[in-house]
Amino acid sequence: MSVIDFLDERFGIRKGAREFANHPVPDHVNWLYCFGGITFLCFLIQAATGVLLAFYYEPSTTTAYSSVLNIMDNVPFGVLVRSLHAWTANIMIIMVVFHMLRVFFHGAYRPPRELNWITGVVLFFITITFGFSGYLLPMNQLSYWATKVGTEIAGAIPLIGQYVQAFLLGGDKIGDATLTRFYTIHVIILPITLSALLVAHFLMVRKQGIADPL
Ligand code: HEM
Repeated sequence: MSVIDFLDERFGIRKGAREFANHPVPDHVNWLYCFGGITFLCFLIQAATGVLLAFYYEPSTTTAYSSVLNIMDNVPFGVLVRSLHAWTANIMIIMVVFHMLRVFFHGAYRPPRELNWITGVVLFFITITFGFSGYLLPMNQLSYWATKVGTEIAGAIPLIGQYVQAFLLGGDKIGDATLTRFYTIHVIILPITLSALLVAHFLMVRKQGIADPL
């Protein structure tokens, strides 16, 4: 008896899987509709490679850079895992922009899909924030200056800017507190929020189906 048979006898997983996967796709659907799925695939790769990196990465201003060098020089497959993480981060941003453009030009944001569009806008900003928060983590010159410019831009937001900047920095300049905050945002807050919103995004797509073209 195979594992599948064993589980099927007890939980009826074959029927469940068939019901889940057997879903009609409209005739007009073509390769342009793949960008959402590719974005999701990128996120899965990011999560898997990110967990592997977290085994070796040490988030403090004195150790972050050397721990990244260690990943590159000594950890088996470290170069591959880190490069996958960095490249897929860029590809994910490009794919989410393509997905957004596809949805926009097909008018798929129209009623009844407004809520899914709004969820999408939040997903877009989360994806960008993933990139921004990840940029500081290696603690090299690029990281430092990008974070300095980024947090100063945040500081220029009218009324709340100084609070946002203080929250991000965790002090008056980039230091250990900043790195701890960015790391927490990057590996805990954003993954949980993105995953929860993706569940909502996919449930809405499932419930409402793919939009007819304009
Ligand atoms: C992490 C980011 C995202 C992922 C993984 C994702 C994934 C998906 C997938 C797999 C679909 C179904 C197939 C497709 O149309 O591609 C979809 C549909 C949709 N997405 Fe996204 N999405 C993301 C971000 C966004 C953004 C930024 C927007 C817009 C601001 C958006 C708006 C929509 C809408 C309105 C639909 C329904 C499209 C239709 O009915 O034709 N999504 N998304």
